[in-house]
Amino acid sequence: MPAPQDGSASPQGAKALVKSYGCQMNVYDATRMTDLLAKEGYGQAAVEEDADLVVLNTCHIREKAAEKIYSELGKLAVTKRERAQAGRDFKIVVAGCVAQAEGVEVLRRQRAVDLVVGPQSYHRLPELLSQAAQGRQLTDTDFAVEEKFRELPQPSRAQIRARGVSAFVTVQEGCDKFCSFCVVPYTRGAEISRSVEEVLAEARRLVESGVSEITLIGQNVNAYRGEDSGGIIWPLERLFEALSGMEGLHRLRYTTSHPVDMTQGLIDAHGALPKLMPFVHLPVQSGSDRVLKAMNRRHRAQDYLDIVQRLRAARPDIALSSDFIVGFPGETDADFEETLALIREVDFASTFSFKYSPRPGTPGAEREDQIDDEIMRERLAVLQALVESQRQAFNAATVGRTVDVLFEKPGRHEGQIAGKSPYMQAVHVDGPTEMIGGVVPVKIVVAGSNSLGGKISEGEGEDG
Ligand code: SAH
Ligand code: SF4
Ligand code: F3S
Repeated sequence: MPAPQDGSASPQGAKALVKSYGCQMNVYDATRMTDLLAKEGYGQAAVEEDADLVVLNTCHIREKAAEKIYSELGKLAVTKRERAQAGRDFKIVVAGCVAQAEGVEVLRRQRAVDLVVGPQSYHRLPELLSQAAQGRQLTDTDFAVEEKFRELPQPSRAQIRARGVSAFVTVQEGCDKFCSFCVVPYTRGAEISRSVEEVLAEARRLVESGVSEITLIGQNVNAYRGEDSGGIIWPLERLFEALSGMEGLHRLRYTTSHPVDMTQGLIDAHGALPKLMPFVHLPVQSGSDRVLKAMNRRHRAQDYLDIVQRLRAARPDIALSSDFIVGFPGETDADFEETLALIREVDFASTFSFKYSPRPGTPGAEREDQIDDEIMRERLAVLQALVESQRQAFNAATVGRTVDVLFEKPGRHEGQIAGKSPYMQAVHVDGPTEMIGGVVPVKIVVAGSNSLGGKISEGEGEDG
């Protein structure tokens, strides 16, 4: 394909596909990369076959996640060879946390990769792509996060509308916690908060273009300490207060929080701000103080239970979700029992749980008391059976109640629309597509295994 003539980084008529793995932060970054590439003249490809450029926005959190990328890359390398035979260009970019953690290794293991770009330097994609056009493999894994926030283009109103009624806004990136199992402090760098002005401007633009739910995201979102134009530092709840005043914005959420940063101010906000949804994802990882200490989590099981109690005091209907790791090095049966006891005490609405995966460069991986895979498998099965029964019970308890639903999209069946309850449950009803984007009271009539069915209620909703 000829080099671009118009000063943009894209060849004429070229299309790009950005594929995302891992957490919400990667989803947000993938959207930003798509916007950036659109500005450079790339159309959006729906499938790989249509793309001239594929960006894999990767996750390094567990070994499985990282290894998946190499098999994806193997397939893309085949496509690249076929394209070359047909005289067509095909570029492969590896972005995200695998890029950051093992960029050089990626280039060595897969020669077809043109460019490796880390999560804090992808705003340089256009410039890097034109350099990569010269045929060299390139890497950029600098931590340039403030520059990134400044330089990334904002999406157009049409782009926002096409993405639906619920949107993410990054307010904080990176992590200073160094849990002994986790790669994030190494792949995302130190904690840094976006300025208040930047966050509010981005939110305003989304709301003006039809977004009615905003989820503030960060690796440690509740550690947010952003500066306003007067140099005052805002905690997260102050952002929620400001966002609560935005007309047309119906719902506010945030993820992911660390128990240590769960301040009383943020807990109180759940009682004071009706737009702040009664659902908190608060990873605890383990219920054993011994394991929590070894994980460097900086809190005990009882601290977590106290936070839950205070959240429930502020907002009695609040639903909780969490992450668990089973089989951290040294975890005994007794430790695992304490995790089950914590789960029984809290009663979670939903959870994510994982077998411990030793990650290169983390202290946990160095330990000699690694747990047998078979034991991890058994513990995970026991834990998942327990949390699954809690999840089903939580969903079943919604039946008969009227809850507010934010409708997001057409449902799977003709005449259906689908949305979310305040507690992140998927809800479908028979209703007109005109209701999409609105919050409507729905009487829940049935709880399926993965979603609730309801009827649009004539009266008022009981929940905020
Ligand atoms: N910042 C968030 C999320 C981190 S990653 C937090 O602090 O909770 C998301 C989840 O992946 C973690 O909560 C943890 O449960 C899991 N995880 C992280 N590293 C892992 C590892 N090495 N093995 C297994 N699970 C891991
Ligand atoms: Fe990882 Fe712990 Fe930081 Fe979460 S708080 S990103 S688990 S190091
Ligand atoms: Fe994965 Fe990086 Fe997110 S390792 S979980 S994509 S911060």
